[in-house]
Amino acid sequence: MTQQTEQFKKVISHAKEYGFVFPSSEIYDGLSAVYDYAQNGAALKNNIREFWWKAMVQLNENIVGIDAAIFMHPTTWKASGHVDAFNDPLIDNKTSKKRYRADVLVEEYVAKIEGKIEKEIEKAAKRFGEAFDEAEFRATNPRVKANQEKADAILKRLGKSLEKEDLADLKALIEELEISCPESGSREWTDVKQFNLMFGTKLGASAETAMDLYLRPETAQGIFVNFLNVQKTGRMKLPFGIAQTGKAFRNEIVARQFIFRMREFEQMEMQFFIAPGTQKEWYEQWKEKRMKWHLALGMGADKYRFHDHEKLAHYADAAADIEFRFPFGFKELEGIHSRTDFDLGSHEKYTGKKLQYFDPERNENYVPYVVETSIGLDRMFLAVFSNSLTEEALEGGASRTVLKFPYALAPNKAAVLPLVKKDGLPELAKTIVEELKWHFQTVYDEKDAVGRRYRRQDALGTPFCITVDHQTLEDQTVTVRERDSMKQERIAIKALKEKLLDQVSMTSLLKKI
Ligand code: GAP
Repeated sequence: MTQQTEQFKKVISHAKEYGFVFPSSEIYDGLSAVYDYAQNGAALKNNIREFWWKAMVQLNENIVGIDAAIFMHPTTWKASGHVDAFNDPLIDNKTSKKRYRADVLVEEYVAKIEGKIEKEIEKAAKRFGEAFDEAEFRATNPRVKANQEKADAILKRLGKSLEKEDLADLKALIEELEISCPESGSREWTDVKQFNLMFGTKLGASAETAMDLYLRPETAQGIFVNFLNVQKTGRMKLPFGIAQTGKAFRNEIVARQFIFRMREFEQMEMQFFIAPGTQKEWYEQWKEKRMKWHLALGMGADKYRFHDHEKLAHYADAAADIEFRFPFGFKELEGIHSRTDFDLGSHEKYTGKKLQYFDPERNENYVPYVVETSIGLDRMFLAVFSNSLTEEALEGGASRTVLKFPYALAPNKAAVLPLVKKDGLPELAKTIVEELKWHFQTVYDEKDAVGRRYRRQDALGTPFCITVDHQTLEDQTVTVRERDSMKQERIAIKALKEKLLDQVSMTSLLKKI
């Protein structure tokens, strides 16, 4: 097992064991690529959502939030292009009968080449120490250069065949690269076919009159169809944005990698409506702003990179991903798309209704252009969770597992622990919980020895443990232990709220953006 796979397995089992993520309907053996968030997972997810929502809506005067329905008029999806173009290229392996996304097979092949490059770089960085110049090494090392050229050439060809929908060339590429089925090892492939990812359902009681609907594959269309409603009722002036979080559904073929690719997932999207011709500038601004949001979490700048798209979606004139270093390599976390006037223009055509804005400065009506930021909440959860999960060696040969969540995202901010279950310590500890719970999520924990309770709270990612002991009865002070450093300090009970709130609040995180 590679180190990456081992780390990823640890992420999945920790998520289950500590009440973050469960397979859906597990007592019926689960449902492929569908997951439930458990008590701690739901809290972490809510905190990530709040961080996004407040950064978008609360901190930007010109962005408002909505909550549109999942069901939409079916013509929405014709207008948006999803009925005709929301397809994945599929290929079946004749031996294993397993179905794959043809483009993903090629991308995984390229990821292996990139893995080799990373290894070379890591080795060289160790060898040269401080003097190591990565850019120069990449430009001069013959093996790295050859591998990089190979990876770039494959991605270029993949981009071209996807853009032209040249499915025969996609199959030829898989054959030329001698890609075999991960399951059977066979290279017996069918032709590549297109497959629409939308889930269909029906609205209405009788089979004859029921209307065919789709479960929305993106939340964005709920924003586009409400553009005029929001603009008029909110008296919004361009440029302005509409933000939304909510469920989206895709019948994903390659639904592996835990919550990275799910069939039911949640998006956090923002459509920023702008004047035609200003899209390039806003696109760059939103790329930068979104990266700042990520970096505020303090998970390390080396964990992120931009990936500019070669193949553009049917609606875009520019697009980039913010990729994150997941345990299985760099993968898309968020998309920033310059969507032109495609969506509003298309809804105009299909509805016959004007979706335009009168610009007093230009003294003209036009269909606004849109720059979109779109991030998967579940992917963000996986990024935060996998990055935070740490195994640390302790003195004396012991080790501990810690979820080093950014404080404001942790499910519980503090745990109050009576040293023993007698002498009035539990009662006193409970009064502290009663006081703190008004300000942040605080839990009470009295089971097991205090050392084990520290370990348990570390594994849940609780930033602070507050221990009540016999000295507390005398001087009204407690021991506060910080999760990452394990440092302890004595603090007066009455100073706790101020001291901790300053560090764990969403405000303190938002101020870092
Ligand atoms: N409105 C644009 C749009 O939907 P996208 O790149 O298809 O663009 C945006 O999706 C984000 O949604 C992705 O960057 C990813 O974080 C998340 N996402 C997409 N498909 C997903 C899936 N099957 N499971 C989990 N998250 C997904």
